[in-house]
Amino acid sequence: MTDQRVVDLFDEFMELTRDFIIRHGLQYEDYAAVTQYLIRVSDAGEWPLWMDNFLEATVDTTSYGDGPWTPSAIEGPYYKPGAPLLSQQPYTLPMRPDEAGDKMLFKATVHSPAGEPVSTAVIDVWHATDKGLYSFIDVGMPDDYILRARIPVDDDGSTEFRSIRPAPYEIPKNGPTGHLLNSVLGRHTWRPAHLHFRITAEGYKPLVTQLYFEGDPYLDSDCAEGVKQGLVIPLSKTEIDGDSWTHGEFAFVLQPQ
Ligand code: BEZ
Ligand code: FE
Repeated sequence: MTDQRVVDLFDEFMELTRDFIIRHGLQYEDYAAVTQYLIRVSDAGEWPLWMDNFLEATVDTTSYGDGPWTPSAIEGPYYKPGAPLLSQQPYTLPMRPDEAGDKMLFKATVHSPAGEPVSTAVIDVWHATDKGLYSFIDVGMPDDYILRARIPVDDDGSTEFRSIRPAPYEIPKNGPTGHLLNSVLGRHTWRPAHLHFRITAEGYKPLVTQLYFEGDPYLDSDCAEGVKQGLVIPLSKTEIDGDSWTHGEFAFVLQPQ
């Protein structure tokens, strides 16, 4: 059966594209270059990366909606469902033995817009290593939930977890997405360091968001244009058992369903 919405969207998309071709007088050599580029993106398996880098930030603005809750942010292509639900405190993200990087303590609270704790919330968190690599994704990283976990919250909506501080992340620079950014557009392939969150709780819309760190050199030039005001946090130092730890915190507010 035909889905009329899909038909209408396709027709409008084609009309816009044809208008674009005519307006710019595009020629067969342009058409061939675009065709070859699209094939290269397919052959490299980079469509999820390409879409999330160039378009997801716009879809994000039309999807979650602004209100008295935490802004959403792009999910990116590297979320893996099924991360372990941590049950033993102190909650510590799975790491490789001797995982390099500044030890980081992250404290979070989850509330409704009215300030009620959301004690059923589960915080799915994932982030890169201190070399900017993701488990499952990057060469040399294990196909395992390293630096990925689901964290429960207490009755008062609070929780905390331990991990290491992630470094800025460089998207693959040798494929067609990186080539477009670096060599064609004169941009770069870096995202500021970030923590990814997917927070779910009964009665609330799932909140997919990210937090960035003040002072990061890529905050104003994120290649995926995912940085939003209100999602950049300061980091401080705290002491645990005589060691110096990086400390971050955030009060998440969920949007009621
Ligand atoms: C990320 O957040 O990890 C990401 C987002 C867009 C493209 C690539 C990576
Ligand atoms: Fe990321």
